[in-house]
Amino acid sequence: MVLSGVDVVGVLEVLRLWVGDERFGGSRLVVVTRGAVSVGGEGVEDVGGGAVWGLVRSAQSEHPGRFVLVDVGVDEGVVVGGVGGVVPDVVGLGESEVAVRGGRVWVPRLVGVSGGGVGGGGVVAGVGGGVALVTGGTGLLGGLVARHLVSVYGVGEVVLVSRRGWGAPGVGGLVGELEGLGARVRVVACDVGDRGAVAELVGSIEGLGVVVHAAGVVDDGVVGSLDGGRLVGVLGPKALGAWYLHEVTCGLDLSAFVLFSSAAGVLGNAGQGSYAAANGFLDALAAHRRARGLPGVSIAWGFWEERS
Ligand SMILES: NC(=O)c1ccc[n+]([C@@H]2O[C@H](COP(=O)([O-])OP(=O)(O)OC[C@H]3O[C@@H](n4cnc5c(N)ncnc54)[C@H](OP(=O)(O)O)[C@@H]3O)[C@@H](O)[C@H]2O)c1
Repeated sequence: MVLSGVDVVGVLEVLRLWVGDERFGGSRLVVVTRGAVSVGGEGVEDVGGGAVWGLVRSAQSEHPGRFVLVDVGVDEGVVVGGVGGVVPDVVGLGESEVAVRGGRVWVPRLVGVSGGGVGGGGVVAGVGGGVALVTGGTGLLGGLVARHLVSVYGVGEVVLVSRRGWGAPGVGGLVGELEGLGARVRVVACDVGDRGAVAELVGSIEGLGVVVHAAGVVDDGVVGSLDGGRLVGVLGPKALGAWYLHEVTCGLDLSAFVLFSSAAGVLGNAGQGSYAAANGFLDALAAHRRARGLPGVSIAWGFWEERS
């Protein structure tokens, strides 16, 4: 069966049906998106499709061989399903995910990269002057990156954002440390899943130069146990928050827009469908921004040793 043109919540509903109904036990579901992944550095048109990819990758980990992801290019004049369509051909390849561009089929493979790295300056090497906004800035990684921005990049002013703001544990110590390094620090309580609140927040920062989006929550569960409410609960701070930050900062001259994503989005961790969807969205948004000449990096972190 071929599923296309459906948003991530709709895809979740079909996945649940697929894994829960034994009539489909011997069949494969092909989920087709259009312009949702980047091939060879091209832009991503359907950023929401990135969330579909993350979710389905998790379903693939939980139910090997039951799902295939196919992304066709936005201008690709291919017939998707049925006789003569592209799906029977690509499914025959036995790959779990493919992209079709210019009539050619692309498959993901791990390749080595040269230079860069996440250590002393690779990923945020573009950090210039201006105020740094760190969402999730009172959390574990937000606090670490705030220290890094101040001590390594010489950022002079930091805005730390979370829903609890000053009410989050350890904020006083973090602020004292950053001030001790010479930075000015503002702590703001703001729900980044609320567009109006994000617009107000960004509007209140004069000279914003760097955005680091590290806000996020987890609500793990296998695909069959999830529902739209749980999925949206995880997408809210991460994916919607990122999209609102993207929209309201579009006219600003940012030097860096860094998204804290996870390997779960790329690899599709079992039991983390919602989280993988949110991170798949972030990865797609970074590619979408870069294609428009805007800064955008999505870092697919593995599991940090220090527990949050
Ligand atoms: N730690 C890891 O091993 C790891 C691995 C891969 C990726 N990551 C990613 O890195 C980011 C940071 O992770 P962490 O380990 O530092 O988690 P954390 O300590 O739980 O921090 C998450 C932060 O997000 C804030 N937050 C949650 N919902 C929010 C909302 N709606 N609006 C504003 N702020 C919100 C939380 O504060 P409030 O609750 O007060 O809002 C908290 O400050 C996350 O996006 C996570 O997915 C982490």
